[in-house]
Amino acid sequence: MSETVKKFRKIGVLASGGDAPGMNAVIRAVTRCAIEHGVEVMGIKGGYAGLISDDVVKLGARDVSNIVNLGGTFLYSARCLEFKEEAGMQKAIETCRKYEIDGIIACGGDGTFRGATDLSNRGIPTIGIPGTIDNDITATEYSIGFDTAMNTTVQMIDRLRDTCLSHARCNVVEVMGRDAGGIAINTAIACGAVGCMINEMPFDEDALMKKMIRLRNEGKRQFIVVVVEGNPYYSEAFAKRIEEATGIETKFARLAHVVRGGSPTLRDRVTAARMSVRAVEELLAGKSDLVVCERGSSIVTTDINFALITDRMYKNKLRDGDLDKYSEEELEKMRAICDAKRRGFEDLYKIMDEISW
Ligand code: F6P
Repeated sequence: MSETVKKFRKIGVLASGGDAPGMNAVIRAVTRCAIEHGVEVMGIKGGYAGLISDDVVKLGARDVSNIVNLGGTFLYSARCLEFKEEAGMQKAIETCRKYEIDGIIACGGDGTFRGATDLSNRGIPTIGIPGTIDNDITATEYSIGFDTAMNTTVQMIDRLRDTCLSHARCNVVEVMGRDAGGIAINTAIACGAVGCMINEMPFDEDALMKKMIRLRNEGKRQFIVVVVEGNPYYSEAFAKRIEEATGIETKFARLAHVVRGGSPTLRDRVTAARMSVRAVEELLAGKSDLVVCERGSSIVTTDINFALITDRMYKNKLRDGDLDKYSEEELEKMRAICDAKRRGFEDLYKIMDEISW
């Protein structure tokens, strides 16, 4: 065991923000990997809130048995406003000191990473693992939970399609993703949807209606239109407009949280294992303030702030001064990541357009 590994006697693990299938697989892998390296593990319950309220449990290797296949997170999760305030943060640091937690691995989305960097800056080295069904963390091509949520969405839409076919109907299906269209566009392609509305691409309602009328006249019986959530009034009203404009009876379904639960797929379990082992190794090697990312088929690490700023760049939410401390080379890297993400959506949308009729 190296000197730096010896320095770490105890680490904490938590899941924060919206839960995602595969978070349990992360908690298990982090725990087992750390124990394998001779390091104790504390499970922090309810995300960062557990650090504030001192809700911390010791995790042995057998405490994480039989959870790799379970959805949700057995440590529970929450979005914690108090942790955004300095007073809350200080309580969290006190809890870390009380239990002699030398570092933390936090699984979640961008809010979780903001918390992670706050902890790192206050002397608790923290590493983030992306866990969100939305796959909306720009620095990583993949976040744990995305595959399971998409597969569940496909199962749900397939069921709707059966009944649409029987009754010659259309179903507008609103899927999760917050502002990100990853679940929507992929499942639209996988389910043979006739249309898909996501924020990343322009959407022409009239063109879709005309296409549906033409296809119905050619004999098509079932129509699935996938719409990303975000505007709660849009999708339901859109279903009514389709019915009025096309004469095709149109139902509306909001899948909502149903796709956030359930047993994680192989993809999510294996990614959880790969990312968790990398996170533990980096933390024990003395690294901090990193987020573990997938690029291509590799697991890599990125500075959390670089990841957060890249995210703001992609979402057009940059604030004054955000880019000041980055070199031209780093900015180029950020732009390349954003461009690749945009291109990914354009490619999928084009594919969908060519075959959705
Ligand atoms: O970020 C994951 C997610 O499920 C989004 O897709 C969705 O918009 C949001 O969380 C819902 O949040 P909550 O569970 O707080 O309703």
